[in-house]
Amino acid sequence: MDEKDSPFLIGTVVSGDSFVDREGPRKRLRANFRSGVNTILISPRRWGKSSLIRQVALDMQRDKDVRFAFVDLFHVRTEQEFLERTTEAVIKALGKTMAERLNDVKTFIRGFVPELSFGPDPQSEFSLKLNLPEGTRTLQDLLDLPERMARAKGVRLVLCIDEFQNIAMLPDPVGFQKILRASWQHHKAVCHAIYGSKRHMMMDLFNKQSMPFYRFGDILFLDKIARKDWLPFIQKRFAKQGISIAPSVCEHICERMQDHSYHVQLLGHAAWLRTDGRRCTEETVNAALQDLLNQHDALYHRLVDELTTPQLNYLRALLNGVTRFTTMETIRRFQLGSSAHVKRMTLGLENKEVLDFVGPKTEWIDPLFKIWLEERFWGGRLRMV
Ligand SMILES: Nc1ncnc2c1ncn2[C@@H]1O[C@H](COP(=O)(O)OP(=O)(O)O)[C@@H](O)[C@H]1O
Ligand SMILES: [Mg+2]
Repeated sequence: MDEKDSPFLIGTVVSGDSFVDREGPRKRLRANFRSGVNTILISPRRWGKSSLIRQVALDMQRDKDVRFAFVDLFHVRTEQEFLERTTEAVIKALGKTMAERLNDVKTFIRGFVPELSFGPDPQSEFSLKLNLPEGTRTLQDLLDLPERMARAKGVRLVLCIDEFQNIAMLPDPVGFQKILRASWQHHKAVCHAIYGSKRHMMMDLFNKQSMPFYRFGDILFLDKIARKDWLPFIQKRFAKQGISIAPSVCEHICERMQDHSYHVQLLGHAAWLRTDGRRCTEETVNAALQDLLNQHDALYHRLVDELTTPQLNYLRALLNGVTRFTTMETIRRFQLGSSAHVKRMTLGLENKEVLDFVGPKTEWIDPLFKIWLEERFWGGRLRMV
Protein backbone atom coordinates (compact mmCIF):
# COMPACT_ATOMS: atom_id res chain seq x y z
CA MET A 1 0.00 0.00 0.00
CA ASP A 2 1.11 3.52 -0.76
CA GLU A 3 2.76 5.22 2.26
CA LYS A 4 0.32 8.08 1.98
CA ASP A 5 -2.80 5.96 2.18
CA SER A 6 -4.77 6.15 5.38
CA PRO A 7 -3.97 3.31 7.78
CA PHE A 8 -7.67 3.19 8.65
CA LEU A 9 -10.34 1.84 6.34
CA ILE A 10 -13.90 3.01 6.44
CA GLY A 11 -16.96 1.97 4.58
CA THR A 12 -15.39 -0.97 2.82
CA VAL A 13 -15.27 -4.58 3.83
CA VAL A 14 -12.02 -5.07 5.73
CA SER A 15 -9.82 -8.14 5.92
CA GLY A 16 -6.21 -9.21 6.41
CA ASP A 17 -4.07 -6.51 8.00
CA SER A 18 -6.99 -4.15 8.54
CA PHE A 19 -9.06 -6.75 10.31
CA VAL A 20 -9.14 -6.94 14.09
CA ASP A 21 -9.25 -10.33 15.73
CA ARG A 22 -12.73 -11.86 16.12
CA GLU A 23 -11.01 -15.21 16.66
CA GLY A 24 -14.00 -16.70 18.51
CA PRO A 25 -16.69 -16.12 15.87
CA ARG A 26 -14.21 -16.89 13.09
CA LYS A 27 -13.55 -20.30 14.53
CA ARG A 28 -17.23 -21.03 15.01
CA LEU A 29 -18.08 -19.96 11.46
CA ARG A 30 -15.25 -22.02 9.98
CA ALA A 31 -16.44 -25.07 11.90
CA ASN A 32 -20.05 -24.48 10.84
CA PHE A 33 -19.16 -24.04 7.17
CA ARG A 34 -16.89 -27.08 7.13
CA SER A 35 -19.66 -29.25 8.49
CA GLY A 36 -22.43 -27.64 6.46
CA VAL A 37 -24.31 -25.96 9.31
CA ASN A 38 -26.51 -23.06 8.24
CA THR A 39 -25.58 -19.95 10.17
CA ILE A 40 -27.45 -16.74 10.93
CA LEU A 41 -25.36 -13.75 11.92
CA ILE A 42 -26.98 -10.70 13.50
CA SER A 43 -25.61 -7.36 14.67
CA PRO A 44 -26.46 -3.69 14.24
CA ARG A 45 -25.15 -2.27 11.01
CA ARG A 46 -21.48 -1.44 10.66
CA TRP A 47 -20.35 -3.67 13.48
CA GLY A 48 -18.57 -5.90 11.00
CA LYS A 49 -20.74 -8.75 9.71
CA SER A 50 -19.79 -8.46 6.04
CA SER A 51 -16.12 -8.08 6.92
CA LEU A 52 -16.23 -11.10 9.22
CA ILE A 53 -17.74 -13.37 6.58
CA ARG A 54 -15.21 -12.19 3.97
CA GLN A 55 -12.40 -12.82 6.44
CA VAL A 56 -13.67 -16.33 7.13
CA ALA A 57 -13.77 -16.93 3.37
CA LEU A 58 -10.11 -15.85 3.26
CA ASP A 59 -9.29 -18.05 6.26
CA MET A 60 -10.72 -20.97 4.32
CA GLN A 61 -9.01 -20.25 1.01
CA ARG A 62 -6.81 -23.29 1.55
CA ASP A 63 -9.82 -25.56 1.94
CA LYS A 64 -9.79 -26.48 -1.72
CA ASP A 65 -13.24 -28.01 -1.74
CA VAL A 66 -15.05 -25.09 -0.10
CA ARG A 67 -16.24 -22.12 -2.17
CA PHE A 68 -18.06 -18.94 -1.17
CA ALA A 69 -20.74 -17.10 -3.13
CA PHE A 70 -21.83 -13.62 -2.05
CA VAL A 71 -25.26 -12.14 -2.53
CA ASP A 72 -26.51 -8.82 -1.19
CA LEU A 73 -30.27 -8.37 -0.94
CA PHE A 74 -30.01 -4.65 -0.23
CA HIS A 75 -31.56 -3.60 -3.54
CA VAL A 76 -33.60 -6.73 -4.16
CA ARG A 77 -37.37 -6.21 -4.25
CA THR A 78 -38.71 -9.07 -6.38
CA GLU A 79 -38.37 -12.84 -6.45
CA GLN A 80 -36.88 -12.60 -9.91
CA GLU A 81 -34.14 -10.27 -8.67
CA PHE A 82 -33.50 -12.62 -5.79
CA LEU A 83 -32.99 -15.50 -8.22
CA GLU A 84 -30.88 -13.41 -10.59
CA ARG A 85 -28.52 -12.21 -7.89
CA THR A 86 -28.14 -15.67 -6.34
CA THR A 87 -27.64 -17.45 -9.63
CA GLU A 88 -25.07 -14.88 -10.73
CA ALA A 89 -23.16 -15.21 -7.46
CA VAL A 90 -23.13 -18.99 -7.64
CA ILE A 91 -21.93 -19.04 -11.24
CA LYS A 92 -19.15 -16.60 -10.37
CA ALA A 93 -18.11 -18.57 -7.32
CA LEU A 94 -17.99 -21.95 -9.02
CA GLY A 95 -16.36 -21.02 -12.33
CA LYS A 96 -12.79 -19.78 -12.43
CA THR A 97 -12.73 -18.34 -15.93
CA MET A 98 -15.36 -16.55 -17.95
CA ALA A 99 -15.34 -19.44 -20.42
CA GLU A 100 -16.12 -21.89 -17.64
CA ARG A 101 -18.90 -19.63 -16.37
CA LEU A 102 -20.53 -19.29 -19.76
CA ASN A 103 -20.38 -23.00 -20.14
CA ASP A 104 -21.96 -23.44 -16.72
CA VAL A 105 -24.79 -21.09 -17.64
CA LYS A 106 -25.53 -23.32 -20.63
CA THR A 107 -25.22 -26.56 -18.72
CA PHE A 108 -27.02 -25.72 -15.51
CA ILE A 109 -29.75 -23.27 -16.48
CA ARG A 110 -32.29 -25.46 -18.17
CA GLY A 111 -35.33 -24.74 -20.24
CA PHE A 112 -34.58 -21.15 -21.25
CA VAL A 113 -31.72 -18.86 -22.17
CA PRO A 114 -30.85 -16.01 -19.78
CA GLU A 115 -29.59 -12.63 -20.95
CA LEU A 116 -26.04 -11.82 -19.98
CA SER A 117 -24.39 -8.42 -19.85
CA PHE A 118 -20.78 -7.68 -19.11
CA GLY A 119 -19.12 -4.97 -17.03
CA PRO A 120 -15.95 -3.00 -17.84
CA ASP A 121 -13.86 -6.04 -16.99
CA PRO A 122 -15.57 -8.88 -18.82
CA GLN A 123 -13.24 -11.36 -17.15
CA SER A 124 -14.81 -10.78 -13.77
CA GLU A 125 -17.98 -8.73 -14.09
CA PHE A 126 -21.21 -9.88 -15.60
CA SER A 127 -24.85 -9.77 -14.73
CA LEU A 128 -27.65 -12.01 -15.60
CA LYS A 129 -31.25 -11.41 -16.48
CA LEU A 130 -33.66 -14.26 -16.17
CA ASN A 131 -36.75 -14.01 -18.30
CA LEU A 132 -38.51 -16.65 -16.35
CA PRO A 133 -40.96 -18.73 -18.29
CA GLU A 134 -44.20 -19.45 -16.42
CA GLY A 135 -44.35 -22.53 -14.29
CA THR A 136 -42.97 -23.74 -11.02
CA ARG A 137 -40.60 -26.24 -12.61
CA THR A 138 -38.24 -23.44 -13.64
CA LEU A 139 -38.39 -21.79 -10.23
CA GLN A 140 -37.62 -25.08 -8.50
CA ASP A 141 -34.86 -25.73 -10.99
CA LEU A 142 -33.21 -22.38 -10.27
CA LEU A 143 -33.52 -22.78 -6.53
CA ASP A 144 -31.76 -26.11 -6.81
CA LEU A 145 -29.06 -24.77 -9.13
CA PRO A 146 -26.53 -24.07 -6.32
CA GLU A 147 -26.88 -27.66 -5.11
CA ARG A 148 -26.70 -29.18 -8.58
CA MET A 149 -23.64 -27.15 -9.49
CA ALA A 150 -21.80 -27.73 -6.22
CA ARG A 151 -22.37 -31.47 -6.51
CA ALA A 152 -21.30 -31.61 -10.12
CA LYS A 153 -18.08 -29.81 -9.23
CA GLY A 154 -17.49 -31.81 -6.09
CA VAL A 155 -17.29 -28.84 -3.74
CA ARG A 156 -19.12 -27.49 -0.72
CA LEU A 157 -20.67 -24.12 -1.43
CA VAL A 158 -21.25 -21.52 1.27
CA LEU A 159 -24.02 -19.27 -0.02
CA CYS A 160 -23.64 -15.98 1.85
CA ILE A 161 -26.70 -13.74 1.81
CA ASP A 162 -26.33 -10.21 3.19
CA GLU A 163 -29.21 -7.99 4.41
CA PHE A 164 -31.45 -11.02 4.42
CA GLN A 165 -34.21 -9.23 6.33
CA ASN A 166 -35.09 -7.56 3.00
CA ILE A 167 -36.78 -10.80 2.03
CA ALA A 168 -39.69 -9.42 4.09
CA MET A 169 -40.12 -6.73 1.40
CA LEU A 170 -40.85 -9.12 -1.46
CA PRO A 171 -44.44 -9.17 -2.74
CA ASP A 172 -45.36 -12.46 -1.01
CA PRO A 173 -42.68 -12.77 1.65
CA VAL A 174 -43.97 -15.72 3.63
CA GLY A 175 -44.99 -17.66 0.54
CA PHE A 176 -41.54 -17.22 -0.96
CA GLN A 177 -39.83 -18.14 2.29
CA LYS A 178 -41.82 -21.36 2.36
CA ILE A 179 -40.63 -22.24 -1.13
CA LEU A 180 -37.04 -21.34 -0.28
CA ARG A 181 -36.95 -23.31 2.91
CA ALA A 182 -38.59 -26.34 1.30
CA SER A 183 -35.91 -26.37 -1.34
CA TRP A 184 -32.87 -25.47 0.80
CA GLN A 185 -33.88 -28.14 3.28
CA HIS A 186 -32.74 -30.81 0.82
CA HIS A 187 -29.45 -29.18 -0.06
CA LYS A 188 -26.48 -31.19 1.14
CA ALA A 189 -23.58 -29.57 -0.70
CA VAL A 190 -24.72 -26.01 0.01
CA CYS A 191 -24.79 -24.34 3.37
CA HIS A 192 -26.13 -20.88 4.03
CA ALA A 193 -24.58 -17.95 5.81
CA ILE A 194 -27.33 -15.46 6.36
CA TYR A 195 -26.76 -12.07 7.90
CA GLY A 196 -28.66 -8.90 8.56
CA SER A 197 -28.72 -5.81 10.70
CA LYS A 198 -32.34 -5.33 11.62
CA ARG A 199 -32.37 -7.48 14.72
CA HIS A 200 -36.12 -7.48 15.21
CA MET A 201 -36.84 -8.43 11.63
CA MET A 202 -34.18 -11.14 11.67
CA MET A 203 -35.54 -12.58 14.91
CA ASP A 204 -39.06 -12.57 13.44
CA LEU A 205 -37.79 -14.56 10.47
CA PHE A 206 -35.75 -17.13 12.37
CA ASN A 207 -37.16 -17.35 15.86
CA LYS A 208 -40.91 -17.44 15.35
CA GLN A 209 -42.44 -20.87 15.31
CA SER A 210 -44.99 -19.85 12.70
CA MET A 211 -42.33 -18.70 10.21
CA PRO A 212 -40.85 -20.92 7.49
CA PHE A 213 -37.24 -20.30 8.57
CA TYR A 214 -37.86 -21.22 12.20
CA ARG A 215 -34.85 -23.20 13.51
CA PHE A 216 -33.03 -22.96 10.21
CA GLY A 217 -29.59 -22.85 11.74
CA ASP A 218 -27.10 -21.66 14.32
CA ILE A 219 -27.93 -18.08 15.35
CA LEU A 220 -24.94 -15.95 16.29
CA PHE A 221 -25.11 -12.42 17.68
CA LEU A 222 -21.95 -10.59 16.79
CA ASP A 223 -20.48 -8.52 19.64
CA LYS A 224 -18.48 -5.36 19.33
CA ILE A 225 -14.73 -5.79 18.98
CA ALA A 226 -13.21 -5.87 22.48
CA ARG A 227 -11.28 -2.86 23.72
CA LYS A 228 -8.20 -4.97 24.40
CA ASP A 229 -8.11 -5.94 20.71
CA TRP A 230 -8.67 -2.40 19.43
CA LEU A 231 -5.82 -0.84 21.42
CA PRO A 232 -2.84 -2.67 19.85
CA PHE A 233 -4.51 -2.41 16.43
CA ILE A 234 -4.77 1.39 16.56
CA GLN A 235 -1.23 1.69 17.88
CA LYS A 236 0.12 -0.56 15.09
CA ARG A 237 -1.79 1.22 12.35
CA PHE A 238 -0.22 4.54 13.34
CA ALA A 239 3.21 2.97 13.91
CA LYS A 240 3.13 1.60 10.36
CA GLN A 241 3.57 5.18 9.19
CA GLY A 242 6.03 6.12 11.91
CA ILE A 243 3.43 7.95 13.99
CA SER A 244 3.51 7.40 17.74
CA ILE A 245 0.40 7.33 19.88
CA ALA A 246 0.16 6.73 23.64
CA PRO A 247 -2.02 3.85 24.90
CA SER A 248 -4.21 6.37 26.73
CA VAL A 249 -4.93 8.14 23.42
CA CYS A 250 -5.87 4.86 21.73
CA GLU A 251 -8.16 4.27 24.68
CA HIS A 252 -9.65 7.74 24.20
CA ILE A 253 -10.52 6.95 20.55
CA CYS A 254 -12.29 3.73 21.58
CA GLU A 255 -14.04 5.36 24.49
CA ARG A 256 -15.46 8.21 22.44
CA MET A 257 -16.61 5.85 19.72
CA GLN A 258 -17.84 3.20 22.16
CA ASP A 259 -15.71 0.52 20.45
CA HIS A 260 -18.00 0.72 17.42
CA SER A 261 -16.15 -0.89 14.47
CA TYR A 262 -16.91 1.64 11.77
CA HIS A 263 -16.58 4.66 14.03
CA VAL A 264 -13.29 3.67 15.64
CA GLN A 265 -11.86 3.43 12.13
CA LEU A 266 -13.54 6.72 11.20
CA LEU A 267 -12.07 8.62 14.13
CA GLY A 268 -8.69 6.92 13.59
CA HIS A 269 -8.75 8.14 10.01
CA ALA A 270 -9.79 11.69 10.96
CA ALA A 271 -7.04 11.81 13.59
CA TRP A 272 -4.49 10.51 11.08
CA LEU A 273 -5.46 13.35 8.72
CA ARG A 274 -4.72 15.79 11.54
CA THR A 275 -1.34 14.45 12.71
CA ASP A 276 1.94 16.16 11.94
CA GLY A 277 3.26 12.81 10.73
CA ARG A 278 5.03 12.11 14.03
CA ARG A 279 2.62 12.04 16.95
CA CYS A 280 -1.06 11.60 17.54
CA THR A 281 -2.07 13.18 20.84
CA GLU A 282 -5.34 13.57 22.71
CA GLU A 283 -5.61 17.08 21.27
CA THR A 284 -5.25 15.65 17.77
CA VAL A 285 -8.10 13.24 18.45
CA ASN A 286 -10.32 15.93 19.94
CA ALA A 287 -9.75 18.21 16.98
CA ALA A 288 -10.50 15.31 14.63
CA LEU A 289 -13.72 14.63 16.49
CA GLN A 290 -14.79 18.24 15.99
CA ASP A 291 -14.03 17.84 12.26
CA LEU A 292 -16.33 14.83 12.14
CA LEU A 293 -19.08 16.66 14.02
CA ASN A 294 -18.82 19.53 11.54
CA GLN A 295 -19.03 17.17 8.60
CA HIS A 296 -22.11 15.46 10.01
CA ASP A 297 -23.88 18.58 11.22
CA ALA A 298 -26.39 18.91 8.36
CA LEU A 299 -27.11 15.20 8.36
CA TYR A 300 -27.80 15.12 12.10
CA HIS A 301 -30.03 18.17 11.92
CA ARG A 302 -32.11 16.32 9.36
CA LEU A 303 -32.17 13.22 11.54
CA VAL A 304 -33.43 15.24 14.51
CA ASP A 305 -36.15 16.74 12.30
CA GLU A 306 -37.39 13.23 11.65
CA LEU A 307 -37.74 12.42 15.35
CA THR A 308 -40.87 13.20 17.34
CA THR A 309 -40.69 15.38 20.45
CA PRO A 310 -41.33 12.45 22.80
CA GLN A 311 -38.58 10.45 21.01
CA LEU A 312 -36.19 13.34 21.56
CA ASN A 313 -37.26 13.53 25.19
CA TYR A 314 -36.48 9.85 25.52
CA LEU A 315 -32.97 10.37 24.12
CA ARG A 316 -32.46 13.26 26.46
CA ALA A 317 -33.50 11.12 29.42
CA LEU A 318 -31.08 8.44 28.27
CA LEU A 319 -28.25 10.97 28.12
CA ASN A 320 -29.16 12.10 31.62
CA GLY A 321 -28.37 8.61 32.82
CA VAL A 322 -31.94 7.35 33.20
CA THR A 323 -32.17 3.55 33.17
CA ARG A 324 -35.79 3.01 34.21
CA PHE A 325 -38.03 4.90 31.84
CA THR A 326 -41.46 3.83 32.99
CA THR A 327 -41.38 5.20 36.53
CA MET A 328 -43.82 8.05 37.25
CA GLU A 329 -40.92 10.25 38.23
CA THR A 330 -39.03 9.80 34.91
CA ILE A 331 -42.19 10.11 32.83
CA ARG A 332 -43.02 13.39 34.53
CA ARG A 333 -39.49 14.79 34.53
CA PHE A 334 -38.86 14.13 30.85
CA GLN A 335 -42.42 14.46 29.60
CA LEU A 336 -42.62 10.97 28.19
CA GLY A 337 -46.43 10.74 28.27
CA SER A 338 -47.22 7.32 29.74
CA SER A 339 -45.54 3.92 30.00
CA ALA A 340 -47.42 2.80 26.87
CA HIS A 341 -45.87 5.76 25.05
CA VAL A 342 -42.43 4.73 26.26
CA LYS A 343 -42.81 1.30 24.69
CA ARG A 344 -43.83 2.87 21.42
CA MET A 345 -40.91 5.32 21.54
CA THR A 346 -38.36 2.56 21.96
CA LEU A 347 -39.82 0.76 18.94
CA GLY A 348 -39.79 4.00 16.95
CA LEU A 349 -36.19 4.74 17.84
CA GLU A 350 -35.21 1.21 16.92
CA ASN A 351 -37.01 1.43 13.56
CA LYS A 352 -35.31 4.72 12.79
CA GLU A 353 -32.00 3.03 13.64
CA VAL A 354 -31.08 5.43 16.41
CA LEU A 355 -30.96 2.91 19.24
CA ASP A 356 -30.75 -0.84 19.52
CA PHE A 357 -31.85 -2.68 22.63
CA VAL A 358 -29.61 -5.67 23.16
CA GLY A 359 -30.86 -7.52 26.24
CA PRO A 360 -30.64 -5.05 29.11
CA LYS A 361 -28.22 -2.83 27.19
CA THR A 362 -29.10 0.18 25.07
CA GLU A 363 -26.70 0.77 22.18
CA TRP A 364 -26.41 3.93 20.12
CA ILE A 365 -26.34 2.83 16.49
CA ASP A 366 -24.26 5.91 15.70
CA PRO A 367 -21.98 6.96 18.57
CA LEU A 368 -21.10 10.18 16.77
CA PHE A 369 -24.77 11.20 16.75
CA LYS A 370 -24.83 10.66 20.51
CA ILE A 371 -21.89 13.05 20.96
CA TRP A 372 -23.48 15.54 18.57
CA LEU A 373 -26.71 15.53 20.60
CA GLU A 374 -24.81 15.95 23.86
CA GLU A 375 -22.37 18.58 22.76
CA ARG A 376 -24.02 20.49 19.96
CA PHE A 377 -27.75 19.97 20.01
CA TRP A 378 -28.39 20.24 23.73
CA GLY A 379 -24.96 21.41 24.87
CA GLY A 380 -25.25 23.22 28.20
CA ARG A 381 -29.02 22.56 28.25
CA LEU A 382 -28.65 18.78 28.33
CA ARG A 383 -28.86 18.18 32.09
CA MET A 384 -32.33 18.07 33.52
CA VAL A 385 -32.86 18.24 37.24
N1 LIG B 1 -12.85 -6.87 12.33
C1 LIG B 1 -12.74 -5.57 12.01
N2 LIG B 1 -11.56 -4.90 12.21
C2 LIG B 1 -11.44 -3.60 11.92
N3 LIG B 1 -12.42 -2.84 11.41
C3 LIG B 1 -13.60 -3.43 11.20
C4 LIG B 1 -13.82 -4.82 11.46
N4 LIG B 1 -15.08 -5.11 11.12
C5 LIG B 1 -15.63 -3.96 10.66
N5 LIG B 1 -14.75 -2.94 10.69
C6 LIG B 1 -15.00 -1.53 10.30
O1 LIG B 1 -16.41 -1.33 10.27
C7 LIG B 1 -16.86 -1.01 8.95
C8 LIG B 1 -18.18 -1.68 8.69
O2 LIG B 1 -17.98 -3.08 8.60
P1 LIG B 1 -18.97 -4.04 7.81
O3 LIG B 1 -18.32 -5.38 7.76
O4 LIG B 1 -19.37 -3.42 6.53
O5 LIG B 1 -20.22 -4.05 8.83
P2 LIG B 1 -21.69 -4.64 8.65
O6 LIG B 1 -21.66 -5.64 7.55
O7 LIG B 1 -22.03 -5.24 9.99
O8 LIG B 1 -22.58 -3.46 8.36
C9 LIG B 1 -15.73 -1.43 8.03
O9 LIG B 1 -15.69 -0.63 6.87
C10 LIG B 1 -14.51 -1.19 8.90
O10 LIG B 1 -14.15 0.17 8.88
MG1 LIG C 1 -22.74 -5.47 5.75
